Amino acid sequence: MDVVETIHDLRQRRRIQGINQVVGVVPTMGDLHAGHLRLVDYCRDQCSFTIATLFVNPLQFGPKEDFASYPRALAHDKSKLEQRNVNVLFAPSIEEMFPEGQTGQTTVTVPNLSEQLCGAARPGHFNGVTTVVSKLFQITQPDFAYFGEKDWQQLTIIKHMVRQLNMPVEVIGVPTCREADGLAMSSRNRYLSREEREIAPTLFQTLREVATHLHEGSSAYADLEESAKSQLHEVGFRPDYVAIRDPNTLKPPSSDQASVRVFGAARLGRARLIDNIGVDR
Ligand code: PAF
Repeated sequence: MDVVETIHDLRQRRRIQGINQVVGVVPTMGDLHAGHLRLVDYCRDQCSFTIATLFVNPLQFGPKEDFASYPRALAHDKSKLEQRNVNVLFAPSIEEMFPEGQTGQTTVTVPNLSEQLCGAARPGHFNGVTTVVSKLFQITQPDFAYFGEKDWQQLTIIKHMVRQLNMPVEVIGVPTCREADGLAMSSRNRYLSREEREIAPTLFQTLREVATHLHEGSSAYADLEESAKSQLHEVGFRPDYVAIRDPNTLKPPSSDQASVRVFGAARLGRARLIDNIGVDR
């Protein structure tokens, strides 16, 4: 695996492959766990040339968020990617990505979708994501790009961006990797104390209960959302939202809609956990 830190070197490495390769990119912020490695496996199966990117993107963190303390584990990440036969790891510095500084940076915004759910609790977060993902697409010029379904809103926003800006890349969503007790894998699970770690799977369990009610025919969306939030509150979470939405538009679904998705986000100690489940009725 080649590790490159500059856009110039990445482009050169990309150009050497010529036009006959199917190129896939797996954008990450590092501290890789089995969820990330599943993205890499999907990419390796579909593409002949796999690029992983590792960049803790300051644009997507709010001023009071965990940019400084976000886990960084470059040596561990390199060896995991090497074992997975990734061709190139692109790990740029902040200066390489934003040579003119972050404040004057041209930004990419996907309106409406970016302001709701997690966007309401984290203003500007998704603009930071879409701006950096656009840059990574411009730099790596992939045919396919892989993102986890745990971040369903992010995945949906990136799909919209690609469609609306005619980017020549196909965005692939990869199912969430879970711990044995159901907790969705996330780098931020590290922030949980032992006690909080025991409570954490309740988020998934609660969303699953909502999904069961929906599956059995309930359309009392507001009631289901409220009682799920109370349940989370009772076990010690500070819930941001539980929301039943259309999987593509993220709008509230009609009462007879066949396919919906249940989203949840809740704080537990230092961590903010998110999860979601699809329901076909
Ligand atoms: O999902 C993530 O890790 C990040 O939001 C991404 C897509 C790598 C952009 O920084």
